[in-house]
Amino acid sequence: MSPTIWFLTSNAGKLAEAGNHLSALGYEVKQLVVQEGVLYEPQAETLEEVAKSKISQARQHLPSNFSPSDMILVEDAGLFIDALDGFPGVYSSYVYSTIGNAGIIRLLNHLTTEDPVSSASLRSARFMAVAALWRDGEVMLGEGICPGHIATKSMDGQGFGFDPIFIPCDLDDNLNPLSPGNYGSHSTHGKTFGAVDSAVKQKFSHRSRALQNLFNQLPSA
Ligand code: IMP
Repeated sequence: MSPTIWFLTSNAGKLAEAGNHLSALGYEVKQLVVQEGVLYEPQAETLEEVAKSKISQARQHLPSNFSPSDMILVEDAGLFIDALDGFPGVYSSYVYSTIGNAGIIRLLNHLTTEDPVSSASLRSARFMAVAALWRDGEVMLGEGICPGHIATKSMDGQGFGFDPIFIPCDLDDNLNPLSPGNYGSHSTHGKTFGAVDSAVKQKFSHRSRALQNLFNQLPSA
């Protein structure tokens, strides 16, 4: 039987991305649902602190069918924009629910040129994710970064959150990201995460990288 991981999230997009990634590694991912309003989002300085707080909170709300060999997963992510000194970073949820993608684009309106390479550098940003796994009473952490830049207009389609405005950097043959504006063998061809298939996003994403980093530390399932 596959080991079970309870993923604390109310975000269907995150659940699908983690489910795809971890089922390929031999784990069964179940959603850990906690009644709305019961958990709080700590206003911490780092994603690690937020993730650890969520693990502690999740442990107070385990389902009756949680078995001692099961694991708990939480994941916290944020968008860090260089021209705004890393803002919104750990405030990403609040910023998304207040000014949203249109507000981010407005904040960067003055940072664009005719040259796509320098525009990409001026508007550089990165998604960062920290995944935390509770297993046998211990917490393990993994982190993932996806560099890219902020588009000049929203490109909707699939995806969630800031996906419609984030264009990831191309990747080289070994799936390592290149600097903004450089061409690599894996590319979304200037499309945002919102405008590409979820399988394409998975190849680039901070979430996949954080999970990879975390599960590389575990024996395979
Ligand atoms: P959290 O990890 O759910 O706290 O995410 C913080 C904010 O960043 C939320 O508004 C999310 O919608 C957004 N966010 C997190 N991960 C992603 C992603 O992969 N794509 C786009 N937005 C994201």
